[in-house]
Amino acid sequence: MTDLSQYHVALVLHTARFGHRYVALPACASTNDEAARLAREGAPEGLVVVADTQSGGRGRLGRTWHSPPGENLYLSILLRPDRTPATLPPLTLMTGAVLARVLAETTGITPVLKWPNDVVVQPTDPQASPRKLAGVLTEMASEREHIRHVVVGIGLNVNGLDFPPELADRATSLRLCCGGTFDRGALLAAVLDAFEPAYDELLAHGPAAALTAWRRHGFLGSRCRVDSGGESIAGTAVDIDEAGALLVRDDGGQIRRVVSGEVH
Ligand code: BTN
Repeated sequence: MTDLSQYHVALVLHTARFGHRYVALPACASTNDEAARLAREGAPEGLVVVADTQSGGRGRLGRTWHSPPGENLYLSILLRPDRTPATLPPLTLMTGAVLARVLAETTGITPVLKWPNDVVVQPTDPQASPRKLAGVLTEMASEREHIRHVVVGIGLNVNGLDFPPELADRATSLRLCCGGTFDRGALLAAVLDAFEPAYDELLAHGPAAALTAWRRHGFLGSRCRVDSGGESIAGTAVDIDEAGALLVRDDGGQIRRVVSGEVH
């Protein structure tokens, strides 16, 4: 997996901290687990773990993340923010916004962010459902109100052409969207280059810039149905708030605040 080697990535990386400690694995169960293990052993903020394939790649809500070898990016970034766990939702939104911006700038596609963390692309047929290109899984270890570490896991479908039947009409890749193959190492470096200043800004000045960046690509204004806490809310996504929650105007005209759930 030459294009994910530290040597290749370091050549195109411009960060001050992120990715300088870099672990590239041919295979693992989950890069999030590897990063968490290294965190417990004392690894520093900015550690990046990347794998060519994952046998137990996972997404939100206990889902499996399709992780075949040789095609895609599976990476985890270790953070040690001196903050409370309330920082986490804006951090997840910030990561989605970073991904959307990098993908728009490097490939010319128009990514859309589906709250909280899905990067989707609308096929040219406006009747077709959006297809998922990337996802973010943020996991944390904390003690009461103190974060010990956070692992931000990113899965990005890069050069794959085929998906298992259950994903075939719901997933896409950069190659399927743009028609060419992409250098995974260069994409990884571009993500880290954009992640570092966005993270520093979030810690220094709070979530305003991250939320603005998210809104630029967010699906706001669209009709949606949100499954949250055993309830299904039909309405229009109108905004996100400072805490990273989604605000939905339901069909009765009430603004509903969603802190966790699944948007359709
Ligand atoms: C989601 O969309 O539900 C989140 C998907 C996150 C997948 C990535 S791949 C790298 C990292 N390791 C994992 O096991 N999951 C994340």
